[in-house]
Amino acid sequence: MFTNQTFLITGIADENSLAMYVAKKIIKNNGNVVCTGLGVTPFHKNLSEKAESFLNKSYNDFENACKKLLGENVLTFPLDITLPESLEALTDFLNEKNVKLNGFLHAIAMDKTIRQKSVKPMLEVTADEFNDTMTVSAFSLISLSHALLKSKVLQNGSSIVTLSYIAAEKVSFFPYINMSIAKAALERLTIEMAYELGRDFGIRANCVRFSPYMGSKAGNATLKIEDVERANRISPLGNAHPEDLAHEVVHLFRKDIRITGEIRHVDGGFHIMG
Ligand SMILES: NC(=O)c1ccc[n+]([C@@H]2O[C@H](COP(=O)([O-])OP(=O)(O)OC[C@H]3O[C@@H](n4cnc5c(N)ncnc54)[C@H](O)[C@@H]3O)[C@@H](O)[C@H]2O)c1
Repeated sequence: MFTNQTFLITGIADENSLAMYVAKKIIKNNGNVVCTGLGVTPFHKNLSEKAESFLNKSYNDFENACKKLLGENVLTFPLDITLPESLEALTDFLNEKNVKLNGFLHAIAMDKTIRQKSVKPMLEVTADEFNDTMTVSAFSLISLSHALLKSKVLQNGSSIVTLSYIAAEKVSFFPYINMSIAKAALERLTIEMAYELGRDFGIRANCVRFSPYMGSKAGNATLKIEDVERANRISPLGNAHPEDLAHEVVHLFRKDIRITGEIRHVDGGFHIMG
């Protein structure tokens, strides 16, 4: 299905990241992937020892997982999506390698108000915490799209997919508060991209809301097993699996569909419940 097509996959932390399932499925369908992982870049300034060792470990985990599951020759590159220079380095790298993209997956989120499964109430969230979460988890869709288009790496007719969840729209029992606001912004931005980039470049942009999933680093750090089990019980089909998500993302990456500006649910039907 994806012969001679290449997709940029952001947000792989390790073998269990949702983005990894998407990357595997693209390769299975004869496509190519380039993967970015959070790591130290030359553009990080004044990193503490702790931060540097966290970033180095993150990048090692990312690279090991990519080589193991996607093949020794898979292209990987460090990216901190909040740093404009890091985005420029990524697009320079892609141009040097003559990579032209047919789309990308935005699978990046971070919220420091969620710590060891306890979540700050909205009223206590500081401006810095609010803005940081927005910058990493929502604005990054604009900065990444902009960088890839400006450098002519993202081709006309490409497809963009972002990841979200039901808490973007409704107050839920999931432990997301500040992050839900950023997801609402990400969803709205996806729709705005669908309009602007659709008209200008024939590029599609869609978002998929997924079930709670504890297998990933982000999911494990935030969710409680009770939350996941409750969603599983309520959802008519039970919680969706990462493979289900990958199936839908790959569908949205297909060239021969005229679907854009959608907020889809891959959640076993959780969203229809009252
Ligand atoms: N796990 C769930 O329950 C769930 C449900 C629905 C949607 N999602 C969304 O799916 C996406 C992937 O999450 P996941 O569950 O696979 O967890 P994950 O921890 O595997 O992925 C999150 C990724 O964000 C990256 N990241 C954070 N800050 C970054 C930065 N400044 N620059 C670049 N990368 C950065 C991390 O390195 C990591 O790779 C996220 O957008 C998440 O909100 C997750």
